[in-house]
Amino acid sequence: MSKLTSPTPRMIVEKTGTIGWMIFNNPDRLNAVSLDMWQAVPKIIADFEADPEIRTIVLTGAGDKAFVAGADISQFEAQRGDPASVVTYEDATNLAFGTIARAARPTIAMIDGYCIGGGLGIALSCDMRFAAHGSTFGIPAAKLGLAYAAAGTRRLVDVVGPAFAKEIFFTARRFTHDEALAMGLINRAFSRDALKEEVLNLCATIADNAPLTVMTAKRIVDETLKAPGNFDADMCEELIERCFHSKDYAEGRTAFMEKRKANFKGH
Ligand code: COA
Repeated sequence: MSKLTSPTPRMIVEKTGTIGWMIFNNPDRLNAVSLDMWQAVPKIIADFEADPEIRTIVLTGAGDKAFVAGADISQFEAQRGDPASVVTYEDATNLAFGTIARAARPTIAMIDGYCIGGGLGIALSCDMRFAAHGSTFGIPAAKLGLAYAAAGTRRLVDVVGPAFAKEIFFTARRFTHDEALAMGLINRAFSRDALKEEVLNLCATIADNAPLTVMTAKRIVDETLKAPGNFDADMCEELIERCFHSKDYAEGRTAFMEKRKANFKGH
């Protein structure tokens, strides 16, 4: 495991093998995200994306109580208290969510505990959510009188559909891991003891597969979620062609015929 440079002590950045770890580190406040943390996210993702050894990115929270309990409300008065500062703050959060969502590598939220508000937004910006039993999920925007960004709302609808998205917003209550599973809000739930091992297994499985195929699938799945008419068929075709022209495609075929495990390089 190697610790990488982080723009703020409230974010821990690590690399173990093919995994890049981004850890929200504000455990006294259940990893509530302060402005410096939001601003650090794009830089950390960019560093992971520039490292060819990294095949998956895992986002998680420090301590044993929370993934992330939302944006840091104690900063709202100073940093989100008037219309101009609201715009600056929203720009930082939207850039953070968007950068996670647009990462070329697969992203996994490893959730153990509270996953609330902007914390759920962070998890929804990831490709997959693996959670520990006992984790709770919710968007308390209606209890605070604030509005959730449109892009984040869309991500929620993409994952759970409009009826559950409305239930989550209208009630502003916390949902159990079983309810989250039933809604499709999380992919899988495990005991707290098993969670990390399961996430490591998932990352190892993905890392063994052909990176170009995985990244192409990610881009095309996300492309299908765009508003009708905005589907970029040419870009999808280019990505598909890149796979068929790759050395990895030749390696995959050869490995199958030779009855051995393929050794993919990502080109
Ligand atoms: N922003 C700032 N501080 C937060 C926080 C947030 N989003 N969420 C939790 N904290 C702080 C609490 O103020 C408390 O600090 P204190 O020890 O100085 O009093 C500490 O974290 C522990 O939280 P606490 O409320 O005592 O834990 P709990 O287990 O009783 O409840 C929650 C957990 C998540 C239900 C509760 O903390 C909560 O409702 N947090 C706000 C969630 C929210 O509205 N997020 C959306 C923001 S957009």
